[in-house]
Amino acid sequence: MTRRRGPTGSARIGVSGLGYMGLATALSFSAHGGSVIGYDVNREVTDRIAHGRSPYHEAGLESLLSRELSSGRFRVVGDLAEMVAETEGVFLCLPTPAGARGRIDLRPVTSGARQLGKALRRTEGHRTVVIKSTVVPGTTERVLEPELRRVSGLGTDRLGVAANPEFLAEGSMVRDALRPERIVLGVNDPRSRGWLRRVYRSFGAPVLELSPTGAELVKYASNAFLALKVSFANEISRMAERLGTHVDDVMAATGADPRIGSKFLRAGPGFGGSCFEKDLRALVTCARDLGVRLRTGETTLTVNAEQTHHALELARQAAGPLHDRTVAVLGLSFKPGTDDVRESRAFPLVTGLLKDGARARVHDPVALGRFREAWKLGHPGGPGNGESLVFASSVPSALEGADLAILHTDWPEYRAWPRSWTDRMRQGVVLDLRRSLPASVTTRARLKVVALGVGNGSMPNGGPAGPPGSRRP
Ligand code: UGA
Repeated sequence: MTRRRGPTGSARIGVSGLGYMGLATALSFSAHGGSVIGYDVNREVTDRIAHGRSPYHEAGLESLLSRELSSGRFRVVGDLAEMVAETEGVFLCLPTPAGARGRIDLRPVTSGARQLGKALRRTEGHRTVVIKSTVVPGTTERVLEPELRRVSGLGTDRLGVAANPEFLAEGSMVRDALRPERIVLGVNDPRSRGWLRRVYRSFGAPVLELSPTGAELVKYASNAFLALKVSFANEISRMAERLGTHVDDVMAATGADPRIGSKFLRAGPGFGGSCFEKDLRALVTCARDLGVRLRTGETTLTVNAEQTHHALELARQAAGPLHDRTVAVLGLSFKPGTDDVRESRAFPLVTGLLKDGARARVHDPVALGRFREAWKLGHPGGPGNGESLVFASSVPSALEGADLAILHTDWPEYRAWPRSWTDRMRQGVVLDLRRSLPASVTTRARLKVVALGVGNGSMPNGGPAGPPGSRRP
């Protein structure tokens, strides 16, 4: 990217919490010319980052990291007080994992705020603390700001507290962080507002200013609406199958209306990831606490869970009863381009296959290790690398003797599907949950394809009567 020497260049910025989002955020400030110090309690993470190695599989992150480290504008420290002393404001990028009964677990963020409060006690001049973590509306003003003031002893003349949610999506984090569509600032005090405007000026994105609580609600409303679009497309996909049409054609034509928009209308196995499900649950719970019933949120979650049942039904239609069958599941991360398996729909899918009495052989080009770890945590003493569940390190070994392959995550490497892969299978049948295998490839590979959201007669090369979307070469 071309480095713009704008006002960000004069800002001294701290970022506390160097997870996926914190690191991408810190590097984007530095790439825009800011002077950035990153801090994380986890020494292993800071050591890796200091040596130019990204702890996360994320396109472009490691090269941006090495560029910004060598520019001298970005560095990491192992001492929070040092970061606070040398910066004008600190972005708090700590996780808010799912807590009990649909709520979020605020402990990491409150304890981070407390540590920050202690470090702030020893500072001079004005500081701004910016909450970037996803927290339910009202948290900054009612919980975090009072806690920061209590621990630091600083009044409004010395400390401003703002909310600034992020909208980075995994797989495109670097691009999203460097060139955001919009900046949402939740800020009440003029000094912090001025500083934040300066920090973001050279990003060139529209800045939308609200109260901290309003900004927090924007974050949840955004994720809830995106998830709603996905669930909507998934319901329409079930209709498309029965009507003998193609969900992508239908959604493309529907989304061509700019009031609707074409993004996030791709039907698939249901949404996964660390945000949508957790955020929707938290929003529904927060609404309930306010005396509001958020039916769209509840339904979005229900439809998402149902989509796995639907995928299993398609698998039964494609391969017959699954009992005693071998099924390969290709792709385990919640989307391509990341090794993140949090809330991946591959978990309920594999669970459903095993429940039906099938043997599952699972593969992912980058997320296999994380999937195995998470599976074993969730199933202590349960199936894992035994007869019923095999973690396969290559596609051919996953397909060996399989009666059915289910394409769960559309990694580009699966799209090449050579004939030799089909030859490994007992029956060359694939259930394509993302409609990512090109007809030319599957014809050449002599694969029978059943595609989610595609009804008979709507496939480009037609096909005999059979289950939804079935296509034979
Ligand atoms: C999401 C939001 O897109 C980000 O804006 C937000 O900042 C982030 O959550 C967060 O709150 O941190 P992310 O979860 O990384 O980002 O990934 P998405 O691209 O939104 O995908 C989420 C899930 O929806 C994936 O499983 C994906 O396969 C699925 N999806 C997405 C579909 O099935 N169809 C679509 O059309 C789009």
